[in-house]
Order: sequence, then C-alpha cells, then structure tokens
Amino acid sequence: MRYASITKRLAELGGEKWRLYSQARQMAEDGHDIIEMTIGEPDVPTPPELVSVASEAMAHGRTKYSNGNGEPEVLRALSNRYTKSAGRNISVDQILCFPGTQTALYATLMALTETGDEVLVGDPMYATYAGLISASGASMIPVPLLPDNGFQITAEDIAKKLTPQSRVILLNSPHNPTGAVLSNKQVKEIVELAVEHDLWIVSDEVYDEMLFEGVDFASPLGFLKGADRIVVVSSISKSHAAPGFRSGWSIGSKEFTKRLLPLAETMLFGNQPFIADMTAIALMKPSKVAADMRQRFEMRAKLIYARLNGFAGLKVSQPEAGMFVLIDVSSTGLSGEAYAFDLLLKTGVAVMPGSAFGVALDNWVRVALSVEDSLFDTACQRILDHALICGQASLKTKG
Ligand SMILES: Cc1ncc(COP(=O)(O)O)c(C=O)c1O
Repeated sequence: MRYASITKRLAELGGEKWRLYSQARQMAEDGHDIIEMTIGEPDVPTPPELVSVASEAMAHGRTKYSNGNGEPEVLRALSNRYTKSAGRNISVDQILCFPGTQTALYATLMALTETGDEVLVGDPMYATYAGLISASGASMIPVPLLPDNGFQITAEDIAKKLTPQSRVILLNSPHNPTGAVLSNKQVKEIVELAVEHDLWIVSDEVYDEMLFEGVDFASPLGFLKGADRIVVVSSISKSHAAPGFRSGWSIGSKEFTKRLLPLAETMLFGNQPFIADMTAIALMKPSKVAADMRQRFEMRAKLIYARLNGFAGLKVSQPEAGMFVLIDVSSTGLSGEAYAFDLLLKTGVAVMPGSAFGVALDNWVRVALSVEDSLFDTACQRILDHALICGQASLKTKG
C-alpha cells in the first residue's frame, strides 16, 4: 500500500527514542527493582482541588463541544497571566488552546514551515523536536550548544547557521534536557536577529515555573520589537503536575492566531470544556505545586552533583531550572546509549540515553530528578558503583 511521505519522515522520530523508557517500564511490570529516572513526569499527583474542578465540571455537563479558540474563562486567565509577565497587552484573540505544548508546537510549525524551509534549534534538544520539525517537510538545522558555554544558545551561533531558507528559530528556555536558562540580554539579541533576518521565533516555555533559586526567566514575548514574529507555547503539564490533562496553548500576534485557527479547528474541532475550567482556575494564582517541585529538584540536582561529579570520571551538569541533570559518561568507555542500557540491566536504574536529545549528547545520559529522596540517593550510589566497575573494565581494555 502507498502511504504519505510524512509516515516515512517520522518513522524513526516517534516512540523509537523512548525505547529504554519502554523497556524499563516493562521490567518494572515484570517485578524487577527499577528506579525510573527517564521521562519528565512531575513527582506528585495533580493537586486534588484541580482534579475536583474538572470532575465537578464534567458532572455539571461541561462535556459538550467547545470552539476552536478555547473557552472564554481560560482565554481570559491566559490573557491576564501573559499581559502581566510580558508587560504589554496580550489579548484573548492572540491565544489558542491546544491539548498540550506538543500539539501547540505541531500546529504552529505546520502553520509556519513547509518543505524547503529551515528551522534552527539548539542541539541538544527535547526529543520530539526532530519529528515536529520534519512533520511539515522542513529541515532541522542544529545549532550546537556547548557544555563549556553552559549549553546556552546565542544569537551569534544562530547567525552562523542562517541561509536564505531559514524561517524559524525554535527556542526552549528553561531548556530540556540541559536546564539552561536564557538571560534577558541573550533573548533580546535573538529577537533582534529574528527581526533583521525576517525569522519567526517559536518559544517553548513549558518549564517557565521551574526556575531554581536566583534565576530569572526572560521570554521573547516581553519584547515589543518583533512582537509580530513571536509565538510562545506552553501548558500546565509541568507547572501544575498535570501532563495527563493535555492542556496547553499558543500565543502570537492576532494575525498569527487568525491564520492558525482553521488549522486548530481542522485538527481538534475544539478543546474539552471541563479541562478548560480546571486550567482557568489553575492559572489564577502562582502554582504551589511548581514552587515545591523546583525546591526539591534543585536540592536533588545539587545532591547528585556532590555525589557523582568527578567520581570515576563522571561529569555532572549544573542546571538552572527544570527536572533533569546530564551526566557525561565518556569515562566508562561506553556511548551514552550503551551505558544507559548497561546501567538498566545491571543496576535497575533507568536514565535516558543522551542521543535521544540530539547528536551533541552521544556520550551523555539524562537523569530525571523526579524520584523521591531515598530512592534518588540509592540511584546515585548504584550509578557510582556501576561507573567504577565500567571505568576499571575500560582501563583493562585499553591496557
Ligand atoms: C521542552 C518540552 N516541550 C514540550 C513538552 C511537552 O509538553 P506537554 O505535556 O505540554 O505537551 C515537554 C515534555 O516533557 C518538554 O520537555
């Protein structure tokens, strides 16, 4: 049978990247002692008061068709929130609701790019970006993010990769998997570059409430210059520990939103009103669950650094935000992927191979910080013991 070329383009860019995660889940189901540090799942349930809002709304009949933009209450809540954070008016007709950041990104990139266009993105990057970019037929142009530079993306590095086909800069700050956060100055320079070269900026801000102590967040939405070329996407998945609700949005100019609406309607035919009700309530005040998570994750990031950095040659990153640390495992003599599978099979600790996040992390693994403290401590010890054994084996092979 004949299939459309999108199926070929995406064949290796979907669930394939999460092979280790699926294997770990299976092993856990089969009764093995597995410590899962793979995906970016919040470490607490969705706050019960928010679940109640959704279930009461369902019970009260908020289960009918909605509209393509989103329910008025949630649009108003988003308008208030972003007007405050951007320091300029973000009106309801600049916002569309989507089932999560992922879908908002998909629709946005479909609206802005097609075959022949280039999307510039930092490498490493979130695992689904390669698929999101190639879905429309566009090409991904990786901009290397270097550990010695704190994995920061700079306007200068982006400029080096520009061609006449460049269309979009896909930004992600706070960044997954590196935990890097762009400063106001860096964002300003990237906005200026976008204006100069007639580019879009799509800014994935799903971790904007996961900043560690003393770190400030800057969004391109805060810059009036170039406002018509900036799209922000986000959700309540991380900020309210509610990834299963699939509640996200895109924010752009009025013209962008008008153009995107028919695509959103074609894809979704509207969002779920009971989820909109819950999201509107969630957005009304600062998220307590996010504040607690970032405190725990920062503490665990410091702990794993203290326990592992420099031991057995391991190098541990120091994130500024988010849910992950990266470990350079070159000293074990294994690639990140071989190391992650070896670690899983020998110790039951499941971490993601860095290669799932771009070529730049071939010798790294990503560790999720969302495991409770005593298990986290056990995992650190298992990683250390395993690295010592790998290091000795590697020395013997070399010797
Ligand atoms: C950088 C980044 N963008 C988007 C997503 C997807 O978010 P959502 O659950 O809102 O679709 C994730 C999830 O881990 C992520 O890390």
